[in-house]
Amino acid sequence: MAALDGRVAIVTGAGQGLGAAEARALAAAGARTVLNDLPGAALDEVVEQIRADGGEAVACPGDVADWATGEALVKTAVDTFGGLHVLVNNAGVLRDRMIFSMSEQEWDTVVRVHLRGHFVTTRFATAYWRERAKATGLPGYARIVNTASEAYLLGSAGQPNYAAAKGGIVSLTLATARGCLKHGVRANAICPRARTAMTGPLMGAAPDGPDPMAPERVAPLVVHLAGPAGERITGEVFVVHGDVVALLGPPTVRAVFRAATGQWTGAELDAALSTEFAAGPPRPGYVCEETLPLAASTFGEAP
Ligand SMILES: NC(=O)c1ccc[n+]([C@@H]2O[C@H](COP(=O)([O-])OP(=O)(O)OC[C@H]3O[C@@H](n4cnc5c(N)ncnc54)[C@H](O)[C@@H]3O)[C@@H](O)[C@H]2O)c1
Repeated sequence: MAALDGRVAIVTGAGQGLGAAEARALAAAGARTVLNDLPGAALDEVVEQIRADGGEAVACPGDVADWATGEALVKTAVDTFGGLHVLVNNAGVLRDRMIFSMSEQEWDTVVRVHLRGHFVTTRFATAYWRERAKATGLPGYARIVNTASEAYLLGSAGQPNYAAAKGGIVSLTLATARGCLKHGVRANAICPRARTAMTGPLMGAAPDGPDPMAPERVAPLVVHLAGPAGERITGEVFVVHGDVVALLGPPTVRAVFRAATGQWTGAELDAALSTEFAAGPPRPGYVCEETLPLAASTFGEAP
């Protein structure tokens, strides 16, 4: 029996790139899939391909940030396949620009598709799972795999909209993991890297032979988190690409300062903090750069 036999999975942004690879891998692992992307031939081709390979897939096109799309995705899963067990939030767009040049629309589009797009589907999926748990008296099988990015860990200078949306997705993942644990939900986020339409201009053409940056290198972790082994994993963030799966640790407290009199004065605060920030030129401190060398053998460092 395959890991996801009998399970029903939604994948957003499944018309190409990572979403298509993840959808194919979930279907190959036995899942019946409901695939979303903006309306168009690309999504239908992925559906047809999965069916031709012996899998099950149905298209549910629409803007993932639309309330109606979230509702339709869950309804399609339930009406077509009898339930819902896995939600993979993956759809995304870029509108890269430095913060001081960014337009309202560039900000709104990216935050809307990524952050609201994750929220809307999660809202309807978790409502369905909560009702199911209440009706049966038992937490059911429920998995969410969200798609963040190392842009959030680094605070990519040319992607303030994208980095902020991806940071929001990590927080949404944690809040969902906490809020829905008792209903059986396991929610995790991945920070993938792969050569796709989104990153092609940055990464360049694929080499001859197997591509270490292929989206198919990311899909096994999504299947793992969606599968039985994912039962014990929730509220985690992974970096995944090539031959790498890295499990991130939580942010830590770097230094604690206490006011001697119980309340800080400006002078006391100056004295306390100036030692911490005495050396070198100012540089962003709350960033994670440890993931960069992990990609050196396949990608080189991220910008
Ligand atoms: N490729 C990478 O290296 C990389 C790195 C970090 C994060 N990511 C994230 O992975 C996800 C997939 O990226 P990709 O590289 O496969 O990109 P991609 O551009 O190849 O695919 C994104 C898909 O999302 C769809 N989409 C866009 N807006 C949509 C909307 N409003 N509603 C429904 N579908 C919509 C697109 O049509 C497209 O099919 C994104 O969330 C991206 O931010 C990718």
